[in-house]
Formats: sequence, structure tokens, C-alpha cells
Amino acid sequence: MRNMENAQPARIGDAAGTLPRKSRLLVTGGAGFIGANFVHHWLEMHPGDRVVVLDALTYAGNLANLEPVKGHPDLKFVQGNICDTPKVERLLREEGIDTIVHFAAESHVDRSIHGPDAFIETNVHGTHSMLKAARKVWLEEKTVPRHRFHHVSTDEVYGSLGPKDPAFHERTAYAPNSPYSASKAASDHLVRAYHHTYGLQVTTSNCSNNYGPFHFPEKLIPLMIVNLLHGRALPIYGDGRNVRDWLHVSDHCRGIDLILRNGRPGEVYNIGGGVESENLELVETLCAVADDAFAALQDLCSRFSGCPAARGDKSSSLIQFVKDRPGHDRRYAIDCGKAERELGYRAQVSLAQGLRNTFDWYVQNEWWWRAVMDGSYQRWVETHYR
Ligand code: NAD
Ligand code: DAU
Repeated sequence: MRNMENAQPARIGDAAGTLPRKSRLLVTGGAGFIGANFVHHWLEMHPGDRVVVLDALTYAGNLANLEPVKGHPDLKFVQGNICDTPKVERLLREEGIDTIVHFAAESHVDRSIHGPDAFIETNVHGTHSMLKAARKVWLEEKTVPRHRFHHVSTDEVYGSLGPKDPAFHERTAYAPNSPYSASKAASDHLVRAYHHTYGLQVTTSNCSNNYGPFHFPEKLIPLMIVNLLHGRALPIYGDGRNVRDWLHVSDHCRGIDLILRNGRPGEVYNIGGGVESENLELVETLCAVADDAFAALQDLCSRFSGCPAARGDKSSSLIQFVKDRPGHDRRYAIDCGKAERELGYRAQVSLAQGLRNTFDWYVQNEWWWRAVMDGSYQRWVETHYR
């Protein structure tokens, strides 16, 4: 099955394709990693727009992620589940929402292997609930003159690439391999279907691996940073040669912003960082970033005395190869040519700079990751890495 590349086209700048001057956004999953970064981005770049966050505050959602914008006059937080269709409908009506940016999802591949049910519930049923509410309020009740439903998806729906395969583009056939990517693929198809069948004005972005501030420390980069600061093992799955394309979350947020403003309804846009890296190479780079930081800042050595770098040893000595992830996709690479040509998208943060900034952020925001690593986090680590 193919994605919505061939969906009904509209010109850039069409009334249906551009946001109203002052927009009223509903951001689902806005207390999660990318959603929260997007909320920060939008409030800064679009003063006067209303932003309503709907988030169930699962283990991955955290109000601390919205701390920098707490009390902002244009921001409202609502705790709730995207599967609660009447609640979503009420929010769309009462807040006069004209734009949905749909991030809420179960997002961790390893968790989907241990327990797929939550992924089907949130990612498939939850997305369908959002679409049903949007159809009812926007298309039937016609509460706003124009609307946009933006769905945030993943490059994982395209499956796994061989070493010489061309990068994923918007017409690459779907071939999801994990319960997570299968649930995201299903949600993408529902979004596409609501456009074709009912005329809902949708866009979808499929992006690569994000990293940056507020990234929950179950994912590779923040897990490695937190572990190495503690002097704990850095678990690399399999041979460490799996390849990912790394996208700084600020570039992703700019990409979504461009799609919301200039993307054509019914279309899909791939967003990536343009940098492929093998996991082992990435972790070794992070270790080198840590070693340099410890050598330059004496304060770090006393704060994180368990880290080998605090004793002048190499952080990479902590690397440990562990059992591979079942069905582990070998390589992802993303072709963002369409977003570059149509929207002027280009990633601005280099991987080297992004990794340094991200390491510094975790060092400076120890309060944040200590707060999110509660009992349920510890239990996850024990179950998964045992
Ligand atoms: P995350 O796990 O950090 O955050 C998910 C957020 O959704 C949390 O705040 C959580 O509380 C909320 N949520 C979960 N279930 C909910 C429900 N039923 N109702 C309301 N809220 C609910 O995820 P993330 O990494 O920020 O990813 C955001 C989106 O981007 C997801 O759709 C994910 O599939 C997609 N994506 C992520 C990446 C990545 O590298 N992180 C890459 C590509 C695509
Ligand atoms: O490609 C986009 C996807 O990127 C998003 O859709 C997902 O929501 C997001 O979680 C991410 O999925 P990955 O599975 O690629 O990310 P993760 O950080 O879990 O793993 C990145 C790579 O690192 C992957 O090849 C597995 C490996 N890994 C991961 C962990 C947690 C390890 O080697 N050791 C680890 O402990």
C-alpha cells in the first residue's frame, strides 16, 4: 500500500492550504518530547495564536516539559485522552480550534514489543477518535471557515533499508516491521482515508529519529547521556551497525511549521536531518563529547564522580553489546527533497553541534531527568535490560 502522495492536490497559498492569520491550535501529546518542543516553538514564533494542549500524561508525558511556557497567556493545558471523542469534540467547539497538530502516541518501539495493546489503542483508535471529532465539528457543524489536521508520523512505516538502497521518499511502499510502526502506518492510512472520503484537510509528516531537550531517557541518545553521567553501562543492541537518520527536534518543529503554513492539503512530507549514523558511531561521538566536557569543566567531575571521564578515563569504556531488539530495522534514511523544493525546508542543526547542545542540556537540567526517572522508569529498565 502506498501513502497519500497522490491525494487531491491544492496549490500553495490556496485558502484551504494556508493557516488563518491568527490560529487556534489543539496540540495532542503536547506534554511529550516533540509536542512540548513544538509548543515552545509555536508560542515563540506565532505570538497571539492560541495553543491548547491535550495530553493524557502517560509515563512519557510530563508537565515539566511545559515549564518554560508555564503561565503563558495563550497556552491552555487540558489533561485528557485522545480516545475520548466527546471530550475532543467539546474542545474543538469551545476553543474554536481550527488546527490540530496530532503528536499523541505511544512512541517507543521496545515497549511495543513487550506490550502492543496500548499502541493499537492510542495510535490507531486514538487517531481515529481525533479524525471523527474533527469531521463532526469541522465538516458537519462547520464551526470554522477553514481547518487543518496535521498528523505527525514516522519514517519507520517504510520499513528497513539495505546499505545501498535509496532513502525513503513519500512514494516508498509501506512495510512496517514492529507493532509500533504498524500502528503508526494504520493511523497514516486513516488520515489519508478521511481526506479522500470526507474531504478533511489533512497533512502528514513522516520524520526520522528526533533528539534534543526533554527527550525521555528510554530512547537511545538521552539513555546514553544519563547512563554515562552515572557511570552505568551503555547498552548497544546487536552489533551496533544499525543506521538511523538523526533530526534535531528544533528542525522537526520548523518543518511542521512550514507544512502547516504552506503544505498542500492531502499531501505527505518527509522530514529528516540528512545525517545517517551507525548507532555505535553515534554513541562513541557522544562519549567523546562527554570526555571533552569533563576535561574542560572541573565542576562536572565532582557532580558526576561515577563517570569514567571524571577520573580521566574514556566514557566509551562503558559501551556494552547486548541482545538485539527482535525485528530490529537495519537502516533508515530519509529523502526530504519534496519538503525542500515545496516548502524551503532544510535541517539547520548539524549532528555534531546538536549532540553537544543536547549533552549540555542534560547536564544543566539534571532536575528534569531525575524527576522523570521515577519508579515506573526504574521498573522498565529492570524488565527490559535484564
Ligand atoms: P512521547 O512518547 O515523548 O510523547 C507522547 C505524548 O503523548 C506524551 O505526552 C503522552 O502523555 C501523550 N499521550 C500518549 N497517549 C495519549 C492518549 N491516549 N491521549 C492523550 N495523550 C496521550 O513521543 P514523542 O517522541 O514526542 O513523539 C511524538 C509523535 O512523533 C508520535 O506520534 C511519534 O510517533 C512521532 N515520532 C516520533 C519520533 C521520535 O524520534 N521521537 C520520530 C518520528 C515520529
Ligand atoms: O525513526 C523514527 C522513530 O525513532 C520514531 O518513530 C520512534 O518514536 C522513536 O522512538 C525512534 O525509534 P527508534 O527505535 O529508532 O529509537 P530508539 O531511540 O529506541 O533506538 C535508536 C536506535 O538505537 C535503534 O537502532 C535501537 C538502538 N538502541 C536503542 C536503545 C534504547 C540501542 O542500541 N540500545 C538501546 O538501549
